[in-house]
Formats: sequence, C-alpha cells, structure tokens
Amino acid sequence: MDKFVIRGGNPLLGTIKVSGAKNSALPCMAAAILTEDEVILENIPQVRDIETERKLLTSMGAEVELGYGRAQHRTSIQCAVLSDPVAKYEIVKTMRASSLVLGPLVARTGIARVAMPGGCAIGGRPIDLHIKALEQMGAVITQEHGYLEARAPQNGEGRLKGTHIVFDKITVTGTEDILMAATLAEGETLLENCAREPEVTDLAALLIAMGAKIEGAGTSTIRVHGVDSLHGARYRINPDRIEAGTFLIAGAITGGDLMVDCCEPAHLGSLIAKLEQAGVRLDLGTDSIRVRSEGAGGSGSTALKAVDISTEEYPGFPTDMQAQYMALATQSEGTSTVTENIFENRFMHVNELVRMGANISVTGRTATVRGKSPLQSAAVMCSDLRASAALVLAALVADGESILDRVYHIDRGYERLEEKLRGVGAQIRRMGDVFGKK
Ligand code: UD1
Repeated sequence: MDKFVIRGGNPLLGTIKVSGAKNSALPCMAAAILTEDEVILENIPQVRDIETERKLLTSMGAEVELGYGRAQHRTSIQCAVLSDPVAKYEIVKTMRASSLVLGPLVARTGIARVAMPGGCAIGGRPIDLHIKALEQMGAVITQEHGYLEARAPQNGEGRLKGTHIVFDKITVTGTEDILMAATLAEGETLLENCAREPEVTDLAALLIAMGAKIEGAGTSTIRVHGVDSLHGARYRINPDRIEAGTFLIAGAITGGDLMVDCCEPAHLGSLIAKLEQAGVRLDLGTDSIRVRSEGAGGSGSTALKAVDISTEEYPGFPTDMQAQYMALATQSEGTSTVTENIFENRFMHVNELVRMGANISVTGRTATVRGKSPLQSAAVMCSDLRASAALVLAALVADGESILDRVYHIDRGYERLEEKLRGVGAQIRRMGDVFGKK
C-alpha cells in the first residue's frame, strides 16, 4: 500500500491546476447507459473512482476508452449492447457511487441488478430514497443475496412511468439516479426536494445535450418530460470544486501565495465566505482564485481567525470540505465549532489530527477546535477520501516528516495530488509499500 511522506513547513507558491469534478464525471459516465450511441466526455479526472466506473461499465458490455494527458482527459463510452446489466459486488464494494447505474440501467434495459453499495466508511449511507423513487415510477424491486434487482413495470413496453416524487431528504446521487431514469420514462416526472449541487446541473446539461427534456436542474424542483430515446453527445465536465477548495485551504494553511487555476469560483461561495471571515485574502478571477495568507505565522490583523462552520446541502458549506476546514481551524486563533449535518460518523480525521497535536473534542455532531496548536509530524492513517485530504493539509504545516498510510483513499478522488502539491513547493513524495505484504 502506498504512503505519502510529507515534510511540513513550506509555504505553497505558484499555480496549481484543478481537474474535472469526479462527482460530475461519475454520473455523466453512468448517463452513457441511456443511449446506444457514443458519449464523449472531456476533462475526466484520472482518479481511482473513474477507473472503477470504467470497469463497472465494461463488465456490463460497454466499450469505454479513457485517454489522459494530451488526449484531454477524454473518455468515450458506447453502450451499444448491455449484455450483462449487473453491477457486481467486487466493483461496487469499493465505490458507493456505483448505485448511480441503477436508474439508467432499468430505464434503458428494463432490468438492473446492483450490489448494495460500499464506498467511504462515513455512516450507514443507505440508498432507500433511490429505491422508493424507482418504485413510484413503477419499478418492482427485490433484494436477494446482497443484490437489488429492479425491473421496469411489465406493462407491455416495460417502461418506467413518469410521476410526482418528493425526496424525503435531499440526496445528491439519488437526485441524479432518478433524473437519469426519468429521461426515458413514459410521460412527465416531477422531482421535488432535489439536490441543487453543481454536479446535478452538470449531469442535466449532458442529458439535455443527449436529447433529454429537463427543466429546473440546479433548483429544488426538476421537471422531466420523458423521451423515447437519447442520442450521443460530447460534453466537458466542470472543474472539481472540492479539489479547488482543498487547494485554497492548502494555500491558506501554509501561509502561501497560490493561484488555484481552472476552477469555478461561483461554485465555492460558502467556502470563500468562511475563508474571508477567517482572514484569508482571496482574489477571484473568472476561472481562478488567488489565495494569500500568513498561515499560522500571522499575528494581529494577519492571524487566521476561528470561524464556525456547519455543513449543509449546496449552496451551504459542503460536507466534503469539512475535514479540510478542520485542519485549517487547528491553525486559527480562537475556538471554532465544526458541525456535520449531512453524515454521521464523519469525524474520523479528528483522532489523527489530535495525534498530530490538535486540540479537538467531539460531542455528537459537533467538533470544537481550539487553536492554534503547533502540529507535529506523525505516522497517521487515512480513513476516507476527504479525511485523508485533511491529514495531508495538517502534514504540510507539521513540524517534521509525517507518514500517511493508505493513500489509496486519496487516489480515489484526487488526481496526482502529490505531483500537483510538489509543483507549488510542498515536500511530499509517494512511497510504495517497502515492507511488502505479510
Ligand atoms: C454525494 C457525493 C459525496 C458527498 C455527498 C453529500 C457523489 C459521488 N458523492 O454522495 O461526495 O459527500 O453527496 O454532498 O456525488 N441518504 C439516505 N437515503 C438515500 C440516500 C441518501 O438516507 O437513499 C442520506 C445519506 O445517508 C446522507 C444524506 O442522505 O445522510 C445525503 O447523502 P447523499 O446526498 O445521497 O450523498 P451521496 O449522493 O452518496
């Protein structure tokens, strides 16, 4: 298992580029299931979850080509024949987003078998809302041996029916899954209490390019007029707002002067507001943000200040930035509270940050961070994708050399993180498992 070795203390200086959004790319790849034609996606990030999705689609009979570097991070997907509409456990267990194929598969082929999802270990993470909505559309769902089977109604055409669905709770992939299913349903589907995340809007834009009739994506009410078939399209994925946010905090925590390039500032509103309150200088461009800070070295007016955050659905503060923000809070003067409202059990980074010298206590859904604490290097364990990013940020300012184990969690969602950070002055390197497996 690869590790990162990080020596803290260097301010990050220069320009760092943001990749395409993993959480847009995953549903957009699943959307290719909806048509026999070729779907070409650009700006696909080169991360493990994308490779997992490629395997997933290929195992169902799709042809998927991934090209990176000069190939513009382009992927072409053609689901001419889906001979095996099954999302197998071996693939699904490593990536919960595999449940995104459920809606499109049943809409296109009339049947889907999907293993119950795995993915990040951050709470129970059920998919009951996906199931309930598909049932409302007439699908018959059964569960056996860890697999869900969804069948389109046996009404002659074997087609899902448009209906009125109100999600009991806002769910991002649930909204995406049902949005995709609705594009090929018979009649109109009205979706209420939808997620408004930019990734939903990204997916809807691709679906519209494929011929879907969708209104209201990006708001809490989406109306879909089902069509008989969709066609191929070419689409460019939006920048990853969570990667961009992680780099903003990397610049701020290290006392750097960093240009975060190829990002979409409009998608980062809540984080930008909190960073500015914390005393971080941000200059917003059209597709870049310059971040400047004195980091933990600041004092008086240049000190980082404690600011409370509370995670909410978009456009609120993203749960996917909570851990990274907490790393910054350890270097801010005063007491910050960090409240996690979206997922239970999403404080796995806390114990590792405490081992590095942070002063954090957790009561229920709220962590109280007392800053600023000088951080010390340590051997720490990555537990989930964003928790691991927080440990990288902490290690960038820790005194000495930290070793982060299990960086495969980081590789799930950050493209060449160590190379990008090294390019702006971080001392970070990847190390293979020198001791091998027992
Ligand atoms: C997506 C993102 C993830 C992000 C999360 C919240 C992708 C691939 N992943 O995950 O990075 O952290 O949004 O912004 O886009 N819930 C149910 N029943 C369901 C579905 C969800 O109870 O059927 C609950 C979840 O347990 C959680 C909340 O709803 O408490 C939100 O989850 P959801 O928005 O579905 O997260 P994901 O789509 O899995």
